[in-house]
Amino acid sequence: MATTTTTTSTTPTKNMAAWLTAPKARPFTVAEAPMPAPGPDEVVVRVHAVALNPVDWFIQAVGIIVPADTGYPAVIGCDLAGEVVAVGANSVSSSSSGPASFAPGDRVCGLAGGREAGDFRTGAFQLYAKADRGLSAKIPDAVSYAQAAVLPLGLSTAATALFQKDALALPLPGSSSPSPSSSSSSFDKDDQKKKVLLVWGGRTSVGSCAIQLAAAAGLDVATTASARNHAYCRGLGATWVFDYHNDAAAVEDEICVGVLDAWSRGSIVQCARVVLKLDESGGGGTRTRKWVQTVLPSPEQVGEEVPEGVEVGYTYGTTLVHNEVGPAIWGKWVPEALASGALQCKPDPEVVAQDLEGIQAACDIGAEGWGTSSSPKLVVEFISE
Ligand SMILES: NC(=O)c1ccc[n+]([C@@H]2O[C@H](COP(=O)([O-])OP(=O)(O)OC[C@H]3O[C@@H](n4cnc5c(N)ncnc54)[C@H](OP(=O)(O)O)[C@@H]3O)[C@@H](O)[C@H]2O)c1
Repeated sequence: MATTTTTTSTTPTKNMAAWLTAPKARPFTVAEAPMPAPGPDEVVVRVHAVALNPVDWFIQAVGIIVPADTGYPAVIGCDLAGEVVAVGANSVSSSSSGPASFAPGDRVCGLAGGREAGDFRTGAFQLYAKADRGLSAKIPDAVSYAQAAVLPLGLSTAATALFQKDALALPLPGSSSPSPSSSSSSFDKDDQKKKVLLVWGGRTSVGSCAIQLAAAAGLDVATTASARNHAYCRGLGATWVFDYHNDAAAVEDEICVGVLDAWSRGSIVQCARVVLKLDESGGGGTRTRKWVQTVLPSPEQVGEEVPEGVEVGYTYGTTLVHNEVGPAIWGKWVPEALASGALQCKPDPEVVAQDLEGIQAACDIGAEGWGTSSSPKLVVEFISE
């Protein structure tokens, strides 16, 4: 397989990273890092903004995911946005059903790559980072790097949970004939009944993307959020918003095609109560209606007693790159929806630092406030480096 790369004439030679030097090391150590070279299906990005995710501060605080014996020193971080400076050999062309193509100079957002190959120095918290081209998209000029950086992991996780065959297996946006009410619908609303998806936790990063993806797939969305975020969720396309503090049984009287628990930290039981009230024969989705799709990667993560009779689905937010969901969402829908405004970069970024040294402060803020109402979507820009 060809592995040549296309680069700009001004390919940089020096890279800097916020290193995790050992399990639970604190603070990050800002030091030089190898300049990444793109694999065939990767792009190298000059990173302008990174968004933080709970997994980032969990890795630092708990020591998960990065193997203690072989993974350190590590560069972590998932979400990035910036300018492409080099592209792998496969990344210069695309087909209608495959990932997008990229060229140096493209403004993009994407998920930092390399971990699956066992390289734990490839995270987003560095000035030049690799992104998997199958989990990247070009962004319009009107979308800032800070805005675009909030999307990759939340969007990938939401798309995996909604559309992957081993998850909720809902029809992809634009995958079948349009419905009467939506030009991009994948559901035929033949009988005028609503097809409803419940997204528990509409203000989470995952939930914000799930609402928008589900709406694009022609579904009506019910969601839960704190009262102050009800208008926010409606602005993303939700029709019904319930306050999860009141344990709302949100969809028992509707045609429910699935339940996604986009929080999954103590809320699986609340979702289970909803599906237990559903008539097994109704719906129109492909799953049993007693199914709660969580955003936990495996059963060991479930920290609550799920009632008997409820099946639980698991989600690993990067697996879509290996099947038809990745190209359909990242290759086609995201660039189109960003350009048309159908995809909003939500939750809004809150820029809390502007250099690599600020990564530690951002992780600290994230860990401190996580799970509280309207916890901010933290972003660090690398503007002076
Ligand atoms: N499996 C994967 O690959 C993967 C990838 C990414 C994330 N995740 C998981 O997905 C979940 C969400 O992560 P995230 O980064 O999207 O979250 P986030 O953006 O940090 O979510 C913050 C929001 O969570 C909401 N929230 C808190 N408690 C809630 C509850 N009991 N019910 C509903 N909403 C609640 C709050 O909404 P209000 O302000 O409305 O109260 C808060 O604003 C986490 O469990 C995370 O570990 C998994």
